[in-house]
Amino acid sequence: MSQPTIESILQENRVFPPPEEFSREAAIASLEDYQQLYDKAKADPQAFWAELAEKELHWFQKWDTVLDWQPPVAKWFVGGKMNISYNCLDRHLTTWRKNKAALIWEGEPGDSRTLTYAQLHREVCQMANVLKELGVQKGDVVGIYMPMIPEAAIAMLACARIGAAHSVVFGGFSSEALRDRLNDAEAKLVITADGGYRKDKAVPLKEQVDLAIANNHAPSVKNVLVVQRTGQKVHMEPGRDHWWHDLKLNASADCPAEPMDSEDLLFILYTSGSTGKPKGVVHTTAGYNLYTHMTTKWTFDLKDTDVYWCTADVGWITGHSYIVYGPLSNGATTLMYEGAPRPSNPGCFWDVIEKYGVTIFYTAPTAIRAFIKMGEHLPKARNLSSLRLLGTVGEPINPEAWMWYHKIIGNERCPIVDTWWQTETGGFMLTPLPGATPTKPGSATFPFPGILAEVVDLDGNPAADNEGGYLVIKHPWPSMMRTVYGDDERFRRTYWEHIAPKDGQYFYFAGDGARRDEEGYFWVMGRVDDVISVAGHRLGTMEIESALVSHPAVAEAAVVGKPDELKGEEVFAFVTLEGDYEESEALEKELKQHVVNEIGAIARPGEIRFTDAMPKTRSGKIMRRLLRNLAAGQEIAGDTSTLEDRTVLDKLRGGA
Ligand code: WT7
Repeated sequence: MSQPTIESILQENRVFPPPEEFSREAAIASLEDYQQLYDKAKADPQAFWAELAEKELHWFQKWDTVLDWQPPVAKWFVGGKMNISYNCLDRHLTTWRKNKAALIWEGEPGDSRTLTYAQLHREVCQMANVLKELGVQKGDVVGIYMPMIPEAAIAMLACARIGAAHSVVFGGFSSEALRDRLNDAEAKLVITADGGYRKDKAVPLKEQVDLAIANNHAPSVKNVLVVQRTGQKVHMEPGRDHWWHDLKLNASADCPAEPMDSEDLLFILYTSGSTGKPKGVVHTTAGYNLYTHMTTKWTFDLKDTDVYWCTADVGWITGHSYIVYGPLSNGATTLMYEGAPRPSNPGCFWDVIEKYGVTIFYTAPTAIRAFIKMGEHLPKARNLSSLRLLGTVGEPINPEAWMWYHKIIGNERCPIVDTWWQTETGGFMLTPLPGATPTKPGSATFPFPGILAEVVDLDGNPAADNEGGYLVIKHPWPSMMRTVYGDDERFRRTYWEHIAPKDGQYFYFAGDGARRDEEGYFWVMGRVDDVISVAGHRLGTMEIESALVSHPAVAEAAVVGKPDELKGEEVFAFVTLEGDYEESEALEKELKQHVVNEIGAIARPGEIRFTDAMPKTRSGKIMRRLLRNLAAGQEIAGDTSTLEDRTVLDKLRGGA
């Protein structure tokens, strides 16, 4: 199995209509119903979203203007006041859902916890009051660096409740990466835990926070709130560090949700791009609430009886939108799992499904490929009959993985929703609606109602059927990112100028190539920029290069993705050394560890190849296409006439 290519996608050309039993019970039950919704939204997007905002959400004050669009800056529901934590919690307390399970949590060493809506509300209010007590005010930014425990969700909702923006940093990022993000966001406080469990081991988190903020390296951080999870020994700096369980004792459970302006900052989430440091993607309150609410409701065809499980980490957008906000806003039961399949417990996912009767399961192609490798005897030994819907996200799914998912996990009766979206889009852009859309393995099918997606060339002209091009969105949508935190210019440059505006038409483009087939199905073909995807984690090659070059031995580094059977891609680095250094296995190991220290284990290069020189064009640009070919062990494809020194290639190959 290799990185999905257009050839391998074309091998599976069966169409899978929604199962009749599923459609019968579905909210959107036929392709005609979808088409009708889509047409209605397209004809008048503002009326479409306004109607849903009124019907589906609670407002303290209604908006004056649905959309204020000064390209590329969109404002939705201007003048409205609301609070997403109110919509996720308080409004359910006056219904029977008060005692419904809001959050089911399964911990790695086998402990578990269930919080009803009333209990979750109580905890959120208490943490919100603790944050206030520690000086956090409306408009402040709070860093969250947590394992997958209920307090991660509680922390996010507590921030939203008092109008503080959160900036969640994935617990697998290093202290260096954490420091950069805390500084960029000027976080006032960090919520963390002593540690968390990862693959049978307790890993430290508080210690990483200490390193990140030591010696006044993150001067904005005044306090650290620490949740006890593993019980490992940690240093508590008097006056700065506080145990959550201590402060909780005296924290009132009364904390009314702050009425927020629709466009108030809800959160910042950092993501990698092709250039520069990671960008702080900015999401605001009302539009994000509405869009994640609607996409959760329709794409997962949510019912009150569902037990919904998304396997992402809250450190990524998937965790924000589809573990926490979307499901809770709908009053659903959302499951959170701290563990991961590992040699000591390869069947743990299937155990969780059986134990809790999970009905909707949402995961990533890289996980599915790992399940295939671990063997179908594992899921087959469990009762998975509670499942009714499957989902996938993160990278194009290869048809082999899709078919396995369909047959072995879905027992050929669960629709699969392949959802294409990004940190920047906040919610699903292309997705089947499971009761309506016939699916084709490898295609994310059609745009969600209200999304005007197209495949275009560099001039913004639509591509012909089956012709590759750039995947763009042509009309603002409620959960679109508002800017890059602190850098409006970078926002404009990165997302809106790749394809230049034409006759007042703006094109949102965030890096994916795609084609559309003769039936209008979208086939996402992957990034066309220098962003790679390792096990579904998005990494900028330039970030890894900067990390390598910050090591004294490295003169120059070029990083490319190498196709990998399980992870999709693996980090492959070409490195030239400073004169005083010689290549060795020890140095290779050291450089790999250096990248781990700078960014985190997810960025560890699978291979480093030392070379005397990089293949460059006459203007001095590294020819990454050649390096990608070399990394993949392929013949050099295409034109090499612009290569400055042809002997470089031979040398590089010699090293293979
Ligand atoms: C990039 C966004 C959005 C949640 C997880 C990743 C790729 C995402 C799909 C899909 C093909 C996909 C794209 C996109 N991607 N979902 N269903 N089919 N590609 O979020 O880290 O912001 O990465 O993931 O390349 O641009 P992210």
